Amino acid sequence: MGSFDLSGRVALVTGATSGIGAATAALLAERGAHVLVAGRDPARGESVVAGIRDRGGKADFVAADLGQPDSVRQLAGEAVGLGGGSVDILVNNAGIFPFSQTEQTPPSDIDAVYGVNVKAPYELVAALAPAMAERGRGAIVNVSTVAAERGVAGMALYGSSKAALDLLTKAWAAEFGPRGVRVNGVAPGPTRTEGTAVMGDYIDELAAGTPVGRPGEPGEIAEAIAYLASDAASYVHGAVLPVDGGLTAV
Ligand SMILES: NC(=O)c1ccc[n+]([C@@H]2O[C@H](COP(=O)([O-])OP(=O)(O)OC[C@H]3O[C@@H](n4cnc5c(N)ncnc54)[C@H](OP(=O)(O)O)[C@@H]3O)[C@@H](O)[C@H]2O)c1
Repeated sequence: MGSFDLSGRVALVTGATSGIGAATAALLAERGAHVLVAGRDPARGESVVAGIRDRGGKADFVAADLGQPDSVRQLAGEAVGLGGGSVDILVNNAGIFPFSQTEQTPPSDIDAVYGVNVKAPYELVAALAPAMAERGRGAIVNVSTVAAERGVAGMALYGSSKAALDLLTKAWAAEFGPRGVRVNGVAPGPTRTEGTAVMGDYIDELAAGTPVGRPGEPGEIAEAIAYLASDAASYVHGAVLPVDGGLTAV
């Protein structure tokens, strides 16, 4: 039987200074992982690390700007160093989601969204998955969105970037799965985080009419990520699990 226990594993969580990433970092640490908390903001990062350490967990902050290719490569190297030579779990959670009508989207947003949401996960997997495959063990979880499979006005850029990530999840499962690395994704529905606070009541509107009838909490998404990162999901490869209160089911 698989286990939820992550003792002895090193987990790199991007975007772990806020929202879903911070909740994931806390939960993976609670399950025994040494968590590398990545983000740009050192104050928020150190606060997440302090919270984990206060509860007896193991964590370190690593600063990185995932919009900068050099910084992404540096993050991978630093993570391996802090992890004592290996990273066993990679959670590609960092993401940006500027919503706009297509004709009003500045070209700089296109580069920024594809940079953080697609290119950074790609570079991190390229840097870290081969070593996982060599060890014959590893788990990668990509954080997608329900907007990756539904056409939503104003979310064309964001949704398309996450649709690319969903295909990468499957392609990487094909590429690395035979060598012991499981690659999966979660597709959250509307979830209350620091990042979605600006959406105000719109987040409730998005959740209205779903079977659960309310937005998600970061901890509820983290539970699914922690499951996919653990041996309990040993037979799950290339799946993108909706964690959306039933939004995409009805
Ligand atoms: N909340 C939702 O309703 C929802 C729904 C579906 C999918 N998602 C996905 O879930 C993930 C997390 O969302 P969230 O709501 O928790 O977001 P959030 O509260 O805005 O947090 C985003 C995280 O990403 C990091 N980040 C952003 N740009 C970065 C950059 N250039 N370099 C490094 N780190 C960067 C931020 O860290 P720093 O500011 O410290 O850099 C922060 O930790 C995203 O991929 C999002 O697309 C969210």
